[in-house]
Amino acid sequence: MSGPPPGRGTTFERLLDGGPHLSVGMLTANLLSLGQEMEILAATGVELVHIDVMDGVFCPQMTFGPPIVKALRTPLLKDVHLMIDDPLSKLEAFVLAGADIITFHLEGASQPHRVLQALGTAVNVNDAARGLIRGVGLSPSTPIAAIEPLLEELEYVLVLGIHPGYPGQSFIATTERRLDHARRLIESSGRPIVLGVDGGVTRANIGRVAAMGADVIVSGSAIFDGGDVASNAAAMLAAVASARPSAGR
Ligand code: DX5
Ligand code: ZN
Repeated sequence: MSGPPPGRGTTFERLLDGGPHLSVGMLTANLLSLGQEMEILAATGVELVHIDVMDGVFCPQMTFGPPIVKALRTPLLKDVHLMIDDPLSKLEAFVLAGADIITFHLEGASQPHRVLQALGTAVNVNDAARGLIRGVGLSPSTPIAAIEPLLEELEYVLVLGIHPGYPGQSFIATTERRLDHARRLIESSGRPIVLGVDGGVTRANIGRVAAMGADVIVSGSAIFDGGDVASNAAAMLAAVASARPSAGR
C-alpha cells in the first residue's frame, strides 16, 4: 500500500505554522455531555481536542480507551496522549479509533524507536492519506536529550509542564528551559517537528507560556473548571493569538 509518509499532510503543516495552537484536554470536561462540549469548543475556534489516556499503571488514574476516541464525534483533531505502559501493544487500536496525533511516553516504552516505527506502519492499516502524527512525551524529570536519537522518526515532541496523572497541577518553572532545549534539538535535526507543552497552563500564565515557543499548548482544567466553557476557551485563544509573532510582539 502506498501513500504519503506518516506525519505529512495538511494537519501537520497547519500545526507547524501559525502557532501556538490550543489543544483542549477533555479530562475535566462534562463527560456525560461530551458531544455538546466538543461543539462549544469547535464554535470558539479551538482546533484540537487532547485525550489523556491513562492506564492506572504508568500513572494512577484510569481514563479513556480506544472506544471513547472512536465515539467522540467532532471536527476537532484528535490529539491522543498515551500515558500508559507498553504502548507498542496498544497502538493499532488507537490508530483504528481515528487518532490524528498519537503521543506515547519515553518512560513507558522500553524500545521507543520501535514504537515510532510501528506507528509509521500502523497508519497504513487505516488511512495513509490521513497523515498520522507520531509524538513522544517527556515527563518533567526525563532529560530532553533523550529525544535526540529519535528525531528522524517522529513529528511531535510533547514536553510536560506537570507530572503525568492529574489535571490542575502548577506549571513547573524548569519547563521553559526544557522547551528551549527541545527547540534547539529540533532545529539542529533539520526536520519539521511540532513542539508541544502540556499541563499547568491557565488563563493567568498562557500568555507567558505562549511566548516560550511551543507550536501546541495543551490546557484542560482552565477551560472546563468553573465559569463558562465558551468564554474560557475564547479567552485562552485570545491570549495565544496576541502572543503570536504575527501579532507584532
Ligand atoms: C496530565 C495530562 C494533562 C492534563 C492537563 O496528566 O497529560 O493533559 O490533563 O490538565 P491541566 O490543563 O489541568 O494541567
Ligand atoms: Zn496530556
